[in-house]
Amino acid sequence: MRRATPSSPQGAEDAAALPLVLRVSADPQIKEAPVLRQVLLSASRSPRLRHVVETAPLSKQVVARYVAGTTAADAVRVTGRLLGDGRTVSVDHLGEDTLDRTQAEGIRDAYTLVLKQLADAGLAHGAEVSVKLSAVGQALRGDGEKIAYDNAYQICDAAKAADTTVTLDMEDHTTTDSTLSILGDLRKDFPSAGAVLQAYLHRTEGDCLDLATEGSRVRLCKGAYFEPESVAYQSRQEVDRSYVRCLKILMSGAGYPMVATHDPRLIEIASSLAAQNRRVQGSYEYQMLYGVRPEEQRRLARIGEKVRVYVPYGDEWYGYLMRRLAERPANVAFFLRSLISKK
Ligand code: FDA
Repeated sequence: MRRATPSSPQGAEDAAALPLVLRVSADPQIKEAPVLRQVLLSASRSPRLRHVVETAPLSKQVVARYVAGTTAADAVRVTGRLLGDGRTVSVDHLGEDTLDRTQAEGIRDAYTLVLKQLADAGLAHGAEVSVKLSAVGQALRGDGEKIAYDNAYQICDAAKAADTTVTLDMEDHTTTDSTLSILGDLRKDFPSAGAVLQAYLHRTEGDCLDLATEGSRVRLCKGAYFEPESVAYQSRQEVDRSYVRCLKILMSGAGYPMVATHDPRLIEIASSLAAQNRRVQGSYEYQMLYGVRPEEQRRLARIGEKVRVYVPYGDEWYGYLMRRLAERPANVAFFLRSLISKK
């Protein structure tokens, strides 16, 4: 039996709520451990470890730092708080690699419910949703792509009815072509549907060129999966350089770039590129994850930049949490301690 994720207490996104994380993050050896990153990314796909983690007496703080809670109401509550603070939101119903059609439809319905609740609460103007196609059926044998397209179509329709839109998250490289092809089909009826491109993939500069067109919303991130050398840059420097090349294409193009990173250097470069390309604030946006660098999110919003916070909610937090730990192995000590905590 899976443990429920605790609701996020007010202010849980603030790192100040987690002094232990800050203390261990001072250790550069932990911070840069690539092997640990690989282990954590493999762990994110391990059913056995998933069971251990989910049934452990997990400290409430670990999950609540990154996840709004388990219910749509939790997502709406956190969205209201962030909008009130000058930020916008992309809500993610947690789940991925759905291998059952009914479950895929359940996730689709969860999205339509949260979109309706956001609209009813008068928040949909500032909140879109992010959808993983593998959560709505892409990985199903046989007609998985068709099922994912149909479910994503209904989510886009519900988003349109709520006066907002959808961004398709990007998963591991074996799904990139399929995801971009489904996005292309969805955009025929929902032109504002957004794409995600991952700078660590060798192919991504080409994808940026293809997608930097009028009205095209493109979120650029570094990439969160464990990818082989044959398709992805492996070192931080190479990934960062690719990110800058991609950003140049998006910022000078006709589309709407969504700069998804917490990296201070890349944020600075994005802001220079926006100025160089005479982009006004609001013709691009910054995006960060809930619970990561909230003070920087507020700073950017204060200086008039559009900032969107990616807010996940739901029971299926395991894979998401593991990828967040892999990005910042310094948090692992905090996580391990929480696993043995009796609280
Ligand atoms: P990097 O990991 O180098 O971090 C830069 C700095 O940010 C760190 O030094 C630290 O200060 C801080 N930081 C970063 N992560 C932290 C953490 N977990 N805890 C505390 N501090 C942290 N990926 C993907 O493959 N497909 C997708 O669809 C998406 N979608 C997406 C949406 C949004 C809005 C964001 C922000 C990110 C994604 N990602 C994603 C994840 C992305 O690919 C990447 O793994 C993370 O954003 C981390 O990379 P950074 O660019 O932040 O740099």
